[in-house]
Amino acid sequence: MNDKSSIRKPWGGRFNSPTDAFVESFTASVTFDQRLAMCDIRGSIAHVTMLSETGIITEDEKKLIVDGLEAIKSTIKAGDFTWSIALEDVHMNIEHALVKAIGEVGKKLHTARSRNDQVATDIRLYLRAQTEIFQSRLLELMTTLIELAEREAATLMPGYTHLQAAQPITFGHHMLAWFEMLIRDYSRFSDCKKRLNSLPLGAGALAGTTFPINRQRVAELLKFDTVAENSLDAVSDRDFALEFSSVASILMVHYSRMAEELVLWNSQAFAFVEIDDAFCTGSSMMPQKKNPDVPELLRGKSGRVVGNLMALLTLMKSQPLAYNKDNQEDKEPIFDTIDTINDCTRALTELIPSLRTKKDRMRTAAAHGFITATDLADHLVRLGLPFRDAHEVVGKAVNLALSKDCQLHELSLAEFKTFDERLDESVYNILNMDNALDSRKHWGGTAPLAVREACARARNRLKDLDY
Ligand code: ARG
Repeated sequence: MNDKSSIRKPWGGRFNSPTDAFVESFTASVTFDQRLAMCDIRGSIAHVTMLSETGIITEDEKKLIVDGLEAIKSTIKAGDFTWSIALEDVHMNIEHALVKAIGEVGKKLHTARSRNDQVATDIRLYLRAQTEIFQSRLLELMTTLIELAEREAATLMPGYTHLQAAQPITFGHHMLAWFEMLIRDYSRFSDCKKRLNSLPLGAGALAGTTFPINRQRVAELLKFDTVAENSLDAVSDRDFALEFSSVASILMVHYSRMAEELVLWNSQAFAFVEIDDAFCTGSSMMPQKKNPDVPELLRGKSGRVVGNLMALLTLMKSQPLAYNKDNQEDKEPIFDTIDTINDCTRALTELIPSLRTKKDRMRTAAAHGFITATDLADHLVRLGLPFRDAHEVVGKAVNLALSKDCQLHELSLAEFKTFDERLDESVYNILNMDNALDSRKHWGGTAPLAVREACARARNRLKDLDY
C-alpha cells in the first residue's frame, strides 16, 4: 500500500490545499474495496465499448484503454499492483494506473460516468457472481443432507416439541427438515438476484449525462437483465444489499438451529450422534473434553451476519437521495457476510457426512416419555371414539403408567380395558414405535418409506434448481 499524499487527486481541481492525512485515510475505501477490482475493470471495458460504438470516443482510443485495463487486470491478479490510500478507492486507483500506463487517452475512460454509478454497478456485478458461487456451495451441502437422510432413513429417534419427547421420527426425516430450510434459502438467493440484476451505469453522479449513451448495450455486455429506470434511485439505493443480507441472515439462523441440535445431540445427556474428531477441539485444562467447536461457531457466527444486516439497514435509514458517502460503508458488511456464509457452508458440508449416529441411544431415548400415546388415541378414534374423548382416555392411561412407574406398553390388557372395553391385544402393536413410524407413510411423513420417497424427490428438485 502506497500512502503518499503527493499523488494528485483526480478531483483536485477546485482544491487549494492538500487533504489532511487523517481525513485521507478516514475517507479511503481502497483497503477493502479492492475486492471489487475485477468487476470494476469489467464494467469499465463495457463502458468504453459503448462509448466507442456511440462515437463518444474513437475506436482507437477504446482499444488503447481496453488493452491498458487488461494489463492492469493481470497486474492485480498477480498481486503486483500498488494500491494507494491517497487515491481513495478502487476506482481511482485503477484509473490513475491506466493514465500512468497509456497516457492522456486514459483520462477519457471516465467520460459520461461517475464513481456513483460505477460503484453501484461494481457491487451488483460482485454480488451477482458471489451469489452464484455461494448457491453452488449450498447445492453441495443440500446433496450431503440427502445422502445422510438416505443412509438414516430408518433410524428411529425421538421427535420433540418443547424439547419434550413427542412422537417417534426418523433421523432421515430430521435431515430432510434441514434440507427444506436450505432449499428455501437457495430460492431466496435466486429471488434476490432478480432485483439485483439491473444496470445502474449511465445514471452518472445522480442526474444522468449529456452524452448520447446506450445503456441497453452496456446492460447487454454486462449481462444485466434490465437497465435501472431512474438515475437518482440507481446511484442511491442499496436495497439489493439489504435483501442479500436478509436472505443470508435467514440462512444463518437456519444454520444456528442445525448447529444447536448438533451440539445437543453430541452432548453426553443426549449422545445421539458423535461428531468426528476432525471437527472438535480439546480443553487446555480438562483432559477428557472433546468440544463441538465447529457447530458452536456456526451458531455464534449467525450473530455477525445478522449484525451486518443491522449495520446495513441503519446505514440506509433516513439517507436523503441521491448518493451519500455513507454508502461506502456498505462494503465491509457485505464482504464479511459473503465470507461467513461461505465458511459456514463449507464447515457443514464437511462435517455432515462424517456424523456417526448412535442408534441404540436414540431408540432408548424414544422408548421413554409415552412417545406413542397419540397413536393410541388415533386407534381409539378408529374404534369409534371422538378424538377429544380418546385424548382424555389416553391421558388417564399415561397417568396410571406414571403412578406405576412404567411405560404404556407395560400396562396389562385388563388395565387397558378399564379405559375402553373395545381395546384388545392389538393395542400393543399400536404402541410399538416402529409401527408408529411405518404408519406415517403419507407425503411429507416420517416413515422410512416416505423418507426414501422424499429423498428421491429432493434429488430431482435439486436438478430443477436454477441459478
Ligand atoms: N468509494 C466510494 C463508495 O464506495 C465510491 C463512490 C464515491 N463517490 C463520491 N462522490 N465520493 O461509495
